[in-house]
Amino acid sequence: MKGTRMATWLSVLVFAVILLKAEGVDVGLTYVQSAVPKGAVCLDGSPPAYHFDKGFGAGINNWIVHFEGGGWCNNVSVCLDRRDTRLGSSKNMDQTASFSGYLSNKQKFNPDFYNWNRIKVRYCDGSSFTGDVEAVDPKTNLHFRGGRIFVAVIEDLLAKGMRNAQNAILSGCSAGGLTAILQCDRFRSLIPAGAKAKCISDAGYFINVKDVSGAQHIQEFYSQVVATHGSAKNLPASCTSRLSPGLCFFPENVVSQIKTPIFFVNAAYDSWQIKNILAPGVADPHGQWRECKLDIKKCSSGQLSVMQGFRTDFLSALSGVGNSPARGKFIDGCYAHCQMGTQETWMRADSPVLAKTTIAKAVGDWYYETRPFHEIDCTYPCNPTCHNRIFDNNQKDD
Ligand SMILES: *[C@@H]1O[C@H](CO)[C@@H](O)[C@H](O)[C@H]1NC(C)=O
Repeated sequence: MKGTRMATWLSVLVFAVILLKAEGVDVGLTYVQSAVPKGAVCLDGSPPAYHFDKGFGAGINNWIVHFEGGGWCNNVSVCLDRRDTRLGSSKNMDQTASFSGYLSNKQKFNPDFYNWNRIKVRYCDGSSFTGDVEAVDPKTNLHFRGGRIFVAVIEDLLAKGMRNAQNAILSGCSAGGLTAILQCDRFRSLIPAGAKAKCISDAGYFINVKDVSGAQHIQEFYSQVVATHGSAKNLPASCTSRLSPGLCFFPENVVSQIKTPIFFVNAAYDSWQIKNILAPGVADPHGQWRECKLDIKKCSSGQLSVMQGFRTDFLSALSGVGNSPARGKFIDGCYAHCQMGTQETWMRADSPVLAKTTIAKAVGDWYYETRPFHEIDCTYPCNPTCHNRIFDNNQKDD
């Protein structure tokens, strides 16, 4: 009896795994050796790396360069902790990545981009690919070279066929979504002039607000990131000429000056930002926000009203985006972070919609200029199509 039940569960499990597999495609890891002589290396000095699934058919000259996220390291000791992990060294990265959602190679899951060349660049510098410090301290062997990695990866891809690109998108999620904002015009300048180049930031619009204790936690943190990595020279000059470099790490201070078309996908209650900008551990010594941050359904009414205030701040930080059709936005009223790289939030029967439109459709129509898209959702919990994140207690931040 027990054995039969076990066998039944096993077959259910196997079936579920097969189903999941059918949604994603495994793509191997390529080390960018050409970057090494340029000094464009990960925190530990190892070569940067990406996963590359080749385009086919009508998509052969179309390119997506997508940057992975994973927070930032803000000083030498935090960067040392990161150095020998997958976020600091290509020696420790997974050999395959599963491409789904926006990176899927199946037309039914990803109708506008499935046959493009799709590249996911692994995050290994801790500065959203902005850093550039020549000196390497032999005591730590830390390399702060993210900005060089950005350029070296683009140059490597140009040599592998992107020099013939007709369409090209720079994108990324989280810290990589910030890369897509900060490096958008640089990407444009590196890509052939004849290509239609655009940028898409998924959950990369980090805002400068005080935390629940009243401290300027994220502002201080970003100024440390920029100082540690020597990022200032790789941040938009239109910003650094008038503000301190740490402030130029915030999209709200650079967005109005971006010339290349750009689209923003972001939850108004971005779960990473609620956990790390609004209510970081240091601002919540008694852990009153702990349950709420794990599951928005567990927030008290007082906490929800603080989060509504965060949404208001988020929308005003977004005002510099404007309403031109060259720009676009999909701002859902969900508790989420990175919604393009998973099928369930990118495009599925039950995925989030704004104005009856999935993220996949909004982004595709905007890219091909068949329909402009600037939608901001009503306040939580009004949108029944949200996939609100529920974290378990020990989960690391993504
Ligand atoms: C580095 O940053 C972390 C996190 O913000 C902080 O806890 C730590 O004290 C800092 N260390 C140094 C040496 O500044």
